[in-house]
Amino acid sequence: MSLKKRKTYELEIIDLAFGGKGLAKPDGFPVFIDRCVPGDLVFVKITKKKKSWAEGKLIQILKPSELRQKGRCQYCKFCGGCKWQEVPYDLQLEYKKRHVTDSIEHIGRLKGIPVMDVIPSDPIFEYRNKMEFSCSAKRWLMPEELADETIKKGFGIGLHVPGTFDKVIDIKQCEIMPAMGNQILEDVRRFITESGLASYDLKSHEGFWRFLMLRHSVAHDQWMVNIVTRDKNIEVVSELGRQLAEKYSNIKSILNNITNSKSGVAIDKEEILIHGEDHITEKLGDFSFKISANSFFQTNTRACQKLYAKVAEYAGLTGRETVLDLYSGTGTIPLWLSRNAKMVYGIEIVTSAVIDAKKNAQLNGIENCEFFEGDIKDVLPKLTHTPDVIIIDPPRVGMHKEVVSQVLNIHAEKIVYVSCNPATLARDLEMLAVRYEVLEITPVDMFPHTYHIESVALLKRK
Ligand SMILES: C[S@@+](CC[C@H](N)C(=O)[O-])C[C@H]1O[C@@H](n2cnc3c(N)ncnc32)[C@H](O)[C@@H]1O
Repeated sequence: MSLKKRKTYELEIIDLAFGGKGLAKPDGFPVFIDRCVPGDLVFVKITKKKKSWAEGKLIQILKPSELRQKGRCQYCKFCGGCKWQEVPYDLQLEYKKRHVTDSIEHIGRLKGIPVMDVIPSDPIFEYRNKMEFSCSAKRWLMPEELADETIKKGFGIGLHVPGTFDKVIDIKQCEIMPAMGNQILEDVRRFITESGLASYDLKSHEGFWRFLMLRHSVAHDQWMVNIVTRDKNIEVVSELGRQLAEKYSNIKSILNNITNSKSGVAIDKEEILIHGEDHITEKLGDFSFKISANSFFQTNTRACQKLYAKVAEYAGLTGRETVLDLYSGTGTIPLWLSRNAKMVYGIEIVTSAVIDAKKNAQLNGIENCEFFEGDIKDVLPKLTHTPDVIIIDPPRVGMHKEVVSQVLNIHAEKIVYVSCNPATLARDLEMLAVRYEVLEITPVDMFPHTYHIESVALLKRK
């Protein structure tokens, strides 16, 4: 069968591929299709055609796979949040493990590395401690709404249809954030609808209401509500804040971030405290962390503890070691390891994260952690301390090649590599494998119902 772009075909999904897409192979030619499960018979439009593969858009499921289950969320067929909700959780974990194994073998060309079973998330719903909902002047309509002329088509607040910047699904109930978040979301929606102020238009960049960011602390059941607007209007936002604070005693922080930046990211320009404090407090193990509106914090608190426990196990510290944590963020891994190390040094590029890391160490009375600010490739060569163990937790793009060389020249006895991207993990492990043996990898699921998977790898100097 010779596939043509823009033509439609009936295909059978035979496997799941990288990126969580379904794979069909008509006459052996790979076609990748989003939101499909092995066993599905689907009607597909070819959207991209290359020499050795193609991409298709799912038009209709003709016969659903027996592997499919009913998604808990009413938007799960459309929303970008959790594309795998119709895949049973056990199977999600199996696919994730295979994704890690395949990446290590095919991209990293490393054979026979033991990849352990995925450490699951518990719970698998209501697990996210941070959600960001976008406001839109013209919400995206669900298929059943399209035909209904009584449906209001204007304002919506929710999550994006994947691959779009201007299509926002009006989410009434999000299953991956704690339940109270949905009540807050509903109250904010009602207030905005009645406010008489326009919602931000993602094309003209006009309008007032932009984002609602919610953060939750598992340890203290506290909430932060960050209302992001394009302009300043204290009177209106304060009234919304007053209503929310009056209704919910566990909203400990209400903020108004004001930004007219055109990007879809809710980065502050000006922050006004509307109610309570400018942060909430969360715990990892028995360490406390003050989290402000724009600080980075792992989004699945409980699974993060499992991840760090694995990092500590692999680091195998006795109290005598000097540890170096590369890409240290707000210092959560250094603190977690501090009690079993002589000294932990962290390097991180974002100024506010380094400030938070220092504050977090102070807050917990930890004196054996020191943080350096800057690009690792510039800071690392100047570091005079020789680490016994190096922890590496880079962003999705992985390590800079120069940093890999610098790390190899340190000759630390052990490396613990934490990764949120199996492809760059595999690429970096292959480079590190010239001097290190990769002993074991454990994937940890931080993001149920998505194809994302975190992994921890243990490397020992040869
Ligand atoms: C995946 S996060 C890890 C954060 C932390 N380990 C944690 O668990 O919360 C990666 C961190 O690397 C930082 N980063 C990215 N590029 C960097 C660079 N070139 N030099 C130093 N830090 C960098 C980012 O700002 C971010 O905080």
